[in-house]
Amino acid sequence: KKIGVLVSGGGSNFQRLIDEIHKVYGEIVVVVSNNADAHGLTRGKTAGIPAVFLDPKKSTGSEDYNQKLLELLNSYGVELVVLAGYMKLITPNLIDAFPNAMVNIHPALIPSFCGEGFYGMHVHNAVIDYGVKVTGATVHFVTEVADGGPIIAQEAVKVADDDTPESIQIKVLAVEHQLLPAVIKAICLDEFEVHGRIVKKRLK
Ligand code: GRF
Repeated sequence: KKIGVLVSGGGSNFQRLIDEIHKVYGEIVVVVSNNADAHGLTRGKTAGIPAVFLDPKKSTGSEDYNQKLLELLNSYGVELVVLAGYMKLITPNLIDAFPNAMVNIHPALIPSFCGEGFYGMHVHNAVIDYGVKVTGATVHFVTEVADGGPIIAQEAVKVADDDTPESIQIKVLAVEHQLLPAVIKAICLDEFEVHGRIVKKRLK
């Protein structure tokens, strides 16, 4: 599959896709960021992947930005979009163009600690403040409901008494680095079937 990756920050998940997926199970044809300084863009360039900064200031609003993003992804023939630490709002004009073909990774066990306002460190702060004993990572298809699309895979992380938001972030990120490439590999191999909001491995 031709894969397009969207990043806003460090891009450590994107790096895992470069290392595990690129040119083996699929081809990452472009990486796009809303942030000119995103280290993810540098990671793309280093791997020889076209890296594009799409400037939000040059758009009239979210929908216009997502329209430009859609045109860019289409121009590269993207079939599967991966949001790997992408912090900008995705609007229906983009989502609808990739039904069951846009994947997001969320640093908690959906449906806990997700939806509006739950991104980045906010998630891990909320996990510690609530006192849950288990958190984790979720990979899901993107629909118009924020963090509400069909769940593809989840993995749990235990919260220890001495954990902090920072230590939990590190533990969850380590899990994300395994989970995301495994899911993208399985999607490239067409191993999933989607029934409404239920995603299952195909019986062989
Ligand atoms: C990850 O925790 C991801 O779940 C969240 O943002 C973080 C991105 O990290 N959406 P990185 O840019 O892949 O290092």
